[in-house]
Amino acid sequence: MLGMLRALFAQVIMFAIACGVGAAAPARGAHAMVVSEQRYASQVGLDILRSGGNAVDAAVAMGYALAVVDPCCGNIGGGGFMLIRMRSGKETFLNFRERAPLRATSDMFLDAHGNVVAGRSTKTYLGVGIPGTVKGLEYARVRFGTRSRNQLMEPAIALARSGYVLNKADIDVYDAGLGDFQRERNVASIFTNNGSPLRIGQRFKQPQLARTLQAIERGGAHAFYQGSIAQRIIAASNSRGGMLARRDFESYQVTEYTPVRCSYRGYEIASAPPPSSGGTTMCEILNVVQPFPLGTYGWNSARSVHDAVEAERHAYVDRNTFLGDPAFVVNPLDRLLSAEHAAAIRAAILPNRSTPSKDLPGTAVSREETDTTHYSIVDRSGNAVAVTYTINDDFGSGLIAGDTGFFLNNEMDDFTSKPGVPNLYGLVQGSANAIAPGKTPLSSMAPTIVTKEGALSIVAGSPGGARIITITLGVLQNIIDYGMDVQQAVNAPRVHHQWLPDTVYLEPGALEFPAQQQLQGMGYTFTTQKDWGSAQAIQRDARSGVLLGGTDRRRPRGAALGY
Ligand code: DON
Repeated sequence: MLGMLRALFAQVIMFAIACGVGAAAPARGAHAMVVSEQRYASQVGLDILRSGGNAVDAAVAMGYALAVVDPCCGNIGGGGFMLIRMRSGKETFLNFRERAPLRATSDMFLDAHGNVVAGRSTKTYLGVGIPGTVKGLEYARVRFGTRSRNQLMEPAIALARSGYVLNKADIDVYDAGLGDFQRERNVASIFTNNGSPLRIGQRFKQPQLARTLQAIERGGAHAFYQGSIAQRIIAASNSRGGMLARRDFESYQVTEYTPVRCSYRGYEIASAPPPSSGGTTMCEILNVVQPFPLGTYGWNSARSVHDAVEAERHAYVDRNTFLGDPAFVVNPLDRLLSAEHAAAIRAAILPNRSTPSKDLPGTAVSREETDTTHYSIVDRSGNAVAVTYTINDDFGSGLIAGDTGFFLNNEMDDFTSKPGVPNLYGLVQGSANAIAPGKTPLSSMAPTIVTKEGALSIVAGSPGGARIITITLGVLQNIIDYGMDVQQAVNAPRVHHQWLPDTVYLEPGALEFPAQQQLQGMGYTFTTQKDWGSAQAIQRDARSGVLLGGTDRRRPRGAALGY
């Protein structure tokens, strides 16, 4: 009896920790809501929505604004995904992720002995994929928006030209990149004060980026892909051993796909299909745990962690083995998302033991980066947009072409450089994700929109490399299984497993000591790391229809703004 009471008490305490007792309540909006990890960008989105623009207009304006006010992550030098759900229920997924240059080869990151050359895929022009953001934002605006390019780009241009005031949270991000900034003269001239760090309270202006954005505002995607911007990127690439060429930019196209879908406890989940692994892996995990009464087991109880971790272990095996760019490989989604596959994984889960990952073929290790960003939007008509876009690593490749003023990605590192050798996120992947000319590297980004009985319920996503999948999944489960509100759901400490190394990653406070002890007894090992990810999510209260916004405590420069 005493033991039961103690366990119940522990569970109540853990729930209180998860919910962040005394933490901020979600932002509320009777009509519309935007959430992003940079307050100036959220304000841009809110202004667009208030003035009658729709969610896609806001997504385009915020995409450009984040490129200015969150240049670690927001970008025009990278790529990403936009999941759109119009009020009518029509859903579509825009893929504007980077492509490998047409001269790329499967062994381009290997030396003469077949070994991966450290840094080649991350710090050089060979690591740069053809950026897709500008074409993606233009595609979204033309197909689904209501505003002119000029109206949607002007706020970003003003922020670049007139600057914005840096706070402590902004400075923390720039300080992390200082070493990289100092290495490149043109980068240092923008992102340092004559070699010294940017300062709190400083108005930070980016005149070069303002000119680049103005060129796009006037000339559209043509200015980027056929005009002077592509020319300057190619010139810089040529002078630094890269392989980017005119036809890479001229041939870049946005593709539109049907989202991946699954049902979970009466909710319909729509998320990212290949070339992201995000939606597929998340749905595979949800399919496996669906029959387990996780809510009854309790948030981060030994039992719920055991079930979740085992499902994750199997789903990451499938991710790394089978998924790749659908323009190049066949992704066996029907099989991976079938009831039979979920049942087979459930049957393999031992009731009171962890399954050693070495018993499952494959390998992976983990590292967290900060250079992706997610934002969520719902407008007054009920249209919803979830965008995750990225330049991959810390400030991408750390390279800026000439005076273009924006960082170029190092997304080529998301490919399999060599089977058996981990990438930045420790993902060791197979031939489905091998480099090929014009191919898109496999992503984990998972912009997600959830409905219930046809009504909008949750819009969510996060950065976090390979962990994006478990972060986004966690936000959904915190709301659906554990009854948290959206702010509690994004703030709750996280647990992650990605198959190998065979360890459960924990954020501080994620597991109570008794639960951890119990799991250790079942064979689990733990690695506690500093907080990861940055979920930006919206929840629609089913009864009142009020929109609730949750911005992640882990990147305290963001804002959820509603009206
Ligand atoms: O597309 C992907 O999965 C990675 N390039 C995302 C990188 C990322 O999330 C880094 N930020 N934390």
